[in-house]
Amino acid sequence: TKKLILDLDTGIDDSLAIAYALGSPEVELIGITGTYGNVTVDLGVRNSLAVTELLGHPEVPVYPGLSHPTTRDGFAVSDSTARIHGYNGIGEVEIPDASRALQSESAVDFIIDAANTYGDDLIYVPTGALTNIAAVLARDPQAVKRIGDITIMGGALTVPGNVNAWTEANISQDPEAADALFRSGAQVTMIGLDVTLQTLLTKRETAKWRALDTSAGRFLADMTDYYIGAYGRIAPHLGGCGLHDPLAVAAAIDPSLATTLPINMMVDLEGPTRGRTIGDNTRLNDPVKTARVAVGVDVPRFLDEFMRRITALAAG
Ligand code: BDR
Ligand code: CA
Repeated sequence: TKKLILDLDTGIDDSLAIAYALGSPEVELIGITGTYGNVTVDLGVRNSLAVTELLGHPEVPVYPGLSHPTTRDGFAVSDSTARIHGYNGIGEVEIPDASRALQSESAVDFIIDAANTYGDDLIYVPTGALTNIAAVLARDPQAVKRIGDITIMGGALTVPGNVNAWTEANISQDPEAADALFRSGAQVTMIGLDVTLQTLLTKRETAKWRALDTSAGRFLADMTDYYIGAYGRIAPHLGGCGLHDPLAVAAAIDPSLATTLPINMMVDLEGPTRGRTIGDNTRLNDPVKTARVAVGVDVPRFLDEFMRRITALAAG
C-alpha cells in the first residue's frame, strides 16, 4: 500500500477527503498536516483529530502546520468562508474533542521525513493553502522531488474562480507558495474547479449516510447538508455541493478518474488577477511539462467510488 499525507484546512470537504482516504484500502493515511483557509490552523487540526477519531481511526497522527501565508503576518477566516463551512469548520455540527493530542513534530519536518523514508511510495495531497509544502521547498528542495505523487486541490484553468472571477480559494490564500511549487520542477497534478464543480453531491446521497444510524453516518450527513445548503444559496444553478477535496484524494489514488493536460503552470502574483493559475508562456516550448491539470473527470465512476467507500466506512 502507498502512504498518504493529507494537508488540510479541515472544513467540510476536507473532512470528506479524510473519510474517502480512510475508506480506501489502496492507501495508508500516515498523517494529516494542518494548514489554514476554511479555518485557522488550530481549529483545523482540532477538527482533523476529532473527525478521524469519530470515523474510527484514532491511530492517524496530526501535525501542526504553518498558520499564515508566506508573505503575510497573519490570517483570519473571512465571514463568507465561515458561512460556507460553519464557524467551527464542520457545519456547526458538534462532535467531541479527540482523546489524543497533536504531534509535537511540525508539519514541515514530518513531510521531509516521510519524503526521505517513503520516496516513490508517498502520495501528498494538499487541499488548502500551499504554505507547508512551500516551506519544505525552501528548506529541502530535493525532498519535494522525492515525493512519489503530489496532487493538489486548487486553482482553475478553464472556468472562473470561486474567490473572484480569476482566483480559487486555496491558491489565493498563498499565491507565492503555489507559484513556488509550480516552478520547483516537481511533478504536480492540479485538481481545480474545472473538474471539482462537475462532481456534485445532493441531500439524496447524504440521506443514505443518515439512514445508517451510526454516529459517523449522522455526522457526515449533518455536516455535508450544511455545505449543500451553502451551495444552494451561493450557486443554486449547480444543484449540489462541489466535492473538491475528496476528488483530489480519489484522483491521487486512481489517476484514471481524471483527464489531464500536461502544461507548465504559474500563478499571477501582481495586480487584479493575483492568485490566478495559468500556463507559463515562458515555458511553453519546454519539452518537460511539470504540471498535469485536470480538464475532465469520470463523474459517475467517481461518485460511485465516493459513495461506496464513505458509506462502508460510516457503516462501521
Ligand atoms: C477549496 O477551498 C476550500 O473552501 C475547500 O475546502 C476546497 O479545498 C475549494 O476552492
Ligand atoms: Ca480544503
